[in-house]
Amino acid sequence: MQFFLDTANLDEIREALNWGVITGVTTNPTLYAKTGGNLAHFDDHMRTICELCEGMPVSVESTATTAQDMIADGRRLAHIAPNVVIKLPVSPEGLTATHALAAEGIPVNMTLIFTVPQALLALRAGARYISPFVGRFDDIAEDGVEQLTSICAAVQNYDFGHKVEIIGASIRTPQHITQAALMGCDIATVPFSTLKKAVQHPLTDRGLASFMEDWKKVEQA
Ligand code: G3P
Repeated sequence: MQFFLDTANLDEIREALNWGVITGVTTNPTLYAKTGGNLAHFDDHMRTICELCEGMPVSVESTATTAQDMIADGRRLAHIAPNVVIKLPVSPEGLTATHALAAEGIPVNMTLIFTVPQALLALRAGARYISPFVGRFDDIAEDGVEQLTSICAAVQNYDFGHKVEIIGASIRTPQHITQAALMGCDIATVPFSTLKKAVQHPLTDRGLASFMEDWKKVEQA
């Protein structure tokens, strides 16, 4: 399973790149708002992310509401950098725009996917990636992992005529990462806070402390 970083924060992206573990970045309007960025700097900010992540897919979300505007937005955003992936919501407008952009060779990541039919429709429309959300199901006392499992199983049954990958999104915990990996999900897009938790284990900390203690004995011998 590949890891994408789910953030628009440049420092987080730089640090995760230094770890050598991420192969892409996903952003959304909420994540950009968290950086304190404004509309005027949006394209430049996304360009910087694309440059930091040269050769890796960077999902940039359109906030347009009509298919026509999504297509125009997609064409404009695709010019920011060669590694831009246009992120569009699954909806009739989003499917129409995905179909048109995919026909022009512009890759689309369809987001806000919660069900198997949404996933299959997005891929039939030409989406290169789909982003089923896990944590938001858990938020409403439903099982997000179960839904992601169903989507992965359904997608594996078919050939969509183009390369497709499933990005497990709204990943909130190391346990979500484990479960996504066990079901064979292609990619997990993970907030940096969750990625940091995923590196840690109390037995790792305890083991490291005892190694350091014992090494002092060696140094003092
Ligand atoms: O990229 C979209 C998704 O990962 C959002 O996650 O935690 O806001 O549900 P969350």
